[in-house]
Amino acid sequence: MTALLDVHVRTKRFADRLVLDNFSLELEAGEIVSLVGASGCGKSTLLRIVAGLDREHDGQVRLNGQAQHGIHRDIGFIFQEPRLLPWLTVAQNVGFDADARRASDPHVFSLLEEVGLAQVADALPKALSGGMAQRVAIARGLFNRPRLLLLDEPFSAVDAFTRMKLQELLLAIAREHGTTLLLVTHDVNEAAWLSDRVVVMGNGRALDEVTITEQRPRHRRSQTLADARNTILEILEGAHVV
Ligand SMILES: Nc1ncnc2c1ncn2[C@@H]1O[C@H](COP(=O)(O)OP(=O)(O)OP(=O)(O)O)[C@@H](O)[C@H]1O
Ligand SMILES: [Mg+2]
Repeated sequence: MTALLDVHVRTKRFADRLVLDNFSLELEAGEIVSLVGASGCGKSTLLRIVAGLDREHDGQVRLNGQAQHGIHRDIGFIFQEPRLLPWLTVAQNVGFDADARRASDPHVFSLLEEVGLAQVADALPKALSGGMAQRVAIARGLFNRPRLLLLDEPFSAVDAFTRMKLQELLLAIAREHGTTLLLVTHDVNEAAWLSDRVVVMGNGRALDEVTITEQRPRHRRSQTLADARNTILEILEGAHVV
């Protein structure tokens, strides 16, 4: 079966610094995969390459077997911070796809309902809490019905309780829409709880990966997840990247 995503970066350099070195990753449709690794190991660079935002590399990104050259509607991106446009309403931000008039699109309202924000559709971003703003960013990331959603440390700026709620929301939405997720996180608990597989990066390549076998819905304090987390930490420590 053809993988939904097949990325192989032979080399990615910034000036004379080699950031990615023979990095390969495949994702099957419906999979949830996390990337973990030390700061500066190339996680965001890899997501930008997959998203088509960085084309100055030697490598190839295939979506459903088709080589990609540039951004693609089937790939959504959620950043560390919500990046909402302050002069547009919540609904306009969600429907912002070169055309703020899409705010009246019923799809915008169904997405806002899904993330529990229908009542603030006409509010400006400044009226939102950090967690609410990131929920808007999730709705916006889903607007084009992407088959693959890339998330770069999406919950790192919110408190621990909000973070757990957002993780649950993300899983529910991914299941509902059949969206495949590739997520960068520094939080090994988050990686273990959310993922089918956790890929550990170091020295510009994929060092190892841990498959999380725990059935869903998962209990956060399960022994299997604790064991998976310890394995991930051991790989990171073994690579001298923590
Ligand atoms: N636009 C750029 N110009 C020059 N160097 C860059 C650029 N973007 C990233 N780098 C460098 O490439 C390396 C990888 O950066 P990247 O942002 O991918 O790391 P990361 O794994 O996402 O780190 P973090 O966990 O801190 O977000 C770093 O050494 C960084 O300094
Ligand atoms: Mg990064």
